Amino acid sequence: MNDTINIKKPEERPNNPCFSSGPCAKMPNWSLEKLKDFNSGRSHRSSPCKAKLKAVIEETKSLLKLPEGYKVAIVPGSDTGAIEMAMWAIIGERGVDVLNYDAFSSLWAGDILEELQIKDVREFKAPYGKLPDLSQVDTDRDVVFVWNGTTSGAMIPNGDWIKSDRKGLTICDATSSVFAVDMPWEKLDVITFSWQKVLGGEGAHGMLILSPRALKRIEEYNPERPIPRIFRFKKGGKIIEGIFEGLTINTPSMLCVEDVLVTMNWIKEVGGAEEMYNRTKRNFQAISNWVAKSSWIEFLAKEENSRSLTSVCLDIKSEWFKLLSDADKAIAAKKITGLLDKEKVAHDINSYPSAPVGIRIWAGAMVETSDLEALFSWLDWAYEVVATEYTNGENNGESTISRQVG
Ligand SMILES: Cc1ncc(COP(=O)(O)O)c(C=O)c1O
Repeated sequence: MNDTINIKKPEERPNNPCFSSGPCAKMPNWSLEKLKDFNSGRSHRSSPCKAKLKAVIEETKSLLKLPEGYKVAIVPGSDTGAIEMAMWAIIGERGVDVLNYDAFSSLWAGDILEELQIKDVREFKAPYGKLPDLSQVDTDRDVVFVWNGTTSGAMIPNGDWIKSDRKGLTICDATSSVFAVDMPWEKLDVITFSWQKVLGGEGAHGMLILSPRALKRIEEYNPERPIPRIFRFKKGGKIIEGIFEGLTINTPSMLCVEDVLVTMNWIKEVGGAEEMYNRTKRNFQAISNWVAKSSWIEFLAKEENSRSLTSVCLDIKSEWFKLLSDADKAIAAKKITGLLDKEKVAHDINSYPSAPVGIRIWAGAMVETSDLEALFSWLDWAYEVVATEYTNGENNGESTISRQVG
């Protein structure tokens, strides 16, 4: 980068430069000190540890206001573990509709088709930034989908397309929306998420929420495939009820458990999950206001009601940028995010590797709106520095743009 480009840096900096889409920013004022009640060196089957695992389950139910009869388990393998566990136990009883519109839903579609080898599958695909046509989905079949495409910046706006009297099960990877948006629980039968997204907790464990209909399916359906122990809900043909009481399948990290409990207590203190939904909405509104005024950035998701409120994916719309090759776009975008990283005002805001080149900003409930507002001037600054380099003709006076585009 040319040191002669001298564009004035903004004065105000975000207090917390963590805008990564996972692991995400921790709750405001988090510190290691807050984990002082962690039961180090104790068995997870001891009463204090069992009580904490149970508390996570009960707090999840009560904060999220889950409907009567829904059960919650803490399972191994983060969100991936939770969704895979559900798919291995449930899929195959009937035909499956799978929505594929981001990197992770594409993995789940691959598992259904190639690993579980389900024959009757309809795959509904959409490119990054778009949703498939939800009106085509048949909820009398099982449906597997992500609620929020963390890598694509598109999010399902509501559950209107899911029938209340459906015969199939809706299996929803909601890892980057639970605790950020009010989910239509009654329309969802299997919901998975992990602590390191909206809650700003630690990666390791998955949360699995099951409706009474999902529990019935698990009880009654016995797939012919072998099921690894780590994915097993049943013993001797019966559901192991202990997993919904905090008796985890294998050893959990009590440090992660302590951390998420501390966060859940903070959520209760500041107004519950509703306040998390409001914080997320305010954050997204702040980003929308900035984008609306910007001459260089736009949402990757063009349809307003399909925009993610948490993992906000942005496209660079400037003419000079659009003329670059994909490889050169990646270099230019990395220059922008690299400057912000170096200045310690924003870490990890590159778009996901397989997504279109751009910027991805996490705006979930733990992010302070004031930090986002401080970030916008820095983004404008970094863009200006890089745009000047590309359009003013660095490199011995030769225009970079004409050289790269040819
Ligand atoms: C939609 C979605 N599903 C699944 C995952 C994988 O989550 P984990 O690493 O918790 O297994 C991610 C990670 O970003 C995600 O965004």
